[in-house]
Amino acid sequence: MAKLWGGRFTKETNKLVDEFTASVSFDQKLAFEDIQGSLAHVQMLGEKGIISEEESETIQNGLKSIRGKLEKGEVEFLVEHEDVHMNLEKLLIDEIGSVGGKLHTGRSRNDQVATDMHLYLRNKVQLIIELLESVQAAIVTQAKDNVSTILPGYTHLQRAQPVSFAHHLLAYFWMFQRDKERLQDSLKRINVLPLGAGALAGTSFPIDRARVAELLGFDSVYPNSMDAVSDRDFILEFLSTSSIVMVHLSRLAEEMVTWSSQEFQFIELDDSFCTGSSIMPQKKNPDVPELLRGKTGRVFGDLVGLLTVLKGLPLAYNKDLQEDKEGMFDTVDTLEGSLSLLAPMLETMTVKREEMRKAVTQDYSNATDIADYLATKGMPFREAHEVIGRIVLYAIENGKYLLDLEMEEYKSFSAMFEKDVYDYLDPENVMNARNSEGGTAAEQVKLQLQLAEENL
Ligand code: ARG
Repeated sequence: MAKLWGGRFTKETNKLVDEFTASVSFDQKLAFEDIQGSLAHVQMLGEKGIISEEESETIQNGLKSIRGKLEKGEVEFLVEHEDVHMNLEKLLIDEIGSVGGKLHTGRSRNDQVATDMHLYLRNKVQLIIELLESVQAAIVTQAKDNVSTILPGYTHLQRAQPVSFAHHLLAYFWMFQRDKERLQDSLKRINVLPLGAGALAGTSFPIDRARVAELLGFDSVYPNSMDAVSDRDFILEFLSTSSIVMVHLSRLAEEMVTWSSQEFQFIELDDSFCTGSSIMPQKKNPDVPELLRGKTGRVFGDLVGLLTVLKGLPLAYNKDLQEDKEGMFDTVDTLEGSLSLLAPMLETMTVKREEMRKAVTQDYSNATDIADYLATKGMPFREAHEVIGRIVLYAIENGKYLLDLEMEEYKSFSAMFEKDVYDYLDPENVMNARNSEGGTAAEQVKLQLQLAEENL
């Protein structure tokens, strides 16, 4: 089939080359953005008299009619036309005749494709910010119900100190908050227009880039045409921010897997978010959080893939840059899918308060508090630590927890112990004693919840 750039060639392209170099199988995702960019470009061409107003209008109408067909799924993209840009240009020429060939005046696919990607990512980043917010809202809903739900807090996956379940969940709220802020900030760099850079050096036509930027809602234009068509750091930034989002998602997902295990039994995921086993009838598997955890790998891969594509590329455009798309689409799809599932899964999970509570009464996570107790009574903390260490060992050897020890047993370790030690050992008191700013005491968690809600 005749190529739009065929003039200089005497031979047909090898079929394998067509298939190898074509990107239309994946970049057709950019079709609407491509038309949006073309509409602004051609309107500016008409306004500047680079083509006649009438031609501009004919082309705009042609583009809109193709857009209508796209919406109805009536457009067929062909590998012979390589990419979405040339497919659309071909469709336009078929639609309105040779005047369609004026659309590409003063433009190159190099600034065109970069523009499409900026438009695409601008929409998707906004969507992902909204999805992150829906996860944050689900966290807040669960946190509100669980300010005084106590569970063991861990360090080294060993029981450390009891915490409020709301406090534990809200830790993720703030991680997602920073992710959201990173994405919001990245919009500053996404919302810059590459179009008008031409192939690499600008164009000899008297174009008006500011006008195109205005029509497309961009805040500014790239000041350097070679930078505009060469760099993909706005995508790298998106992929790195997304990688961090996935790290956070994956850590929360891992906790959900652990918490729903028989060993922990802290939560139960709703049936609608679990799957069964083909052989073991008793199984209810946390496939969704497992996959959230597993999908982290592909997003990291997308980031490393693009870093590698860009590293060592000379300016300006190189065909390597076509490899920027699939990773970006994949990351967008992964984030969209993951975040859309996480919010309802968090909202519908059952918090097993009794089990959590039982766990804190069957451990030594109140040990710090009796060390603090002795310290308050005047014993140097380091000495108190030593004394309590010996008490914990004694308790373990005698199959008891700290609350089970008799007064005489305490007294045998230090005369400083009095009846009030038992108040210090009570899990509620242990939790609420940590009333420092940002701590797990109910009073602090309520303040934190207020702050969290202000960010929604
Ligand atoms: N499909 C190409 C890409 O995504 C569009 C730009 C092609 N430019 C070129 N000079 N071959 O990178």
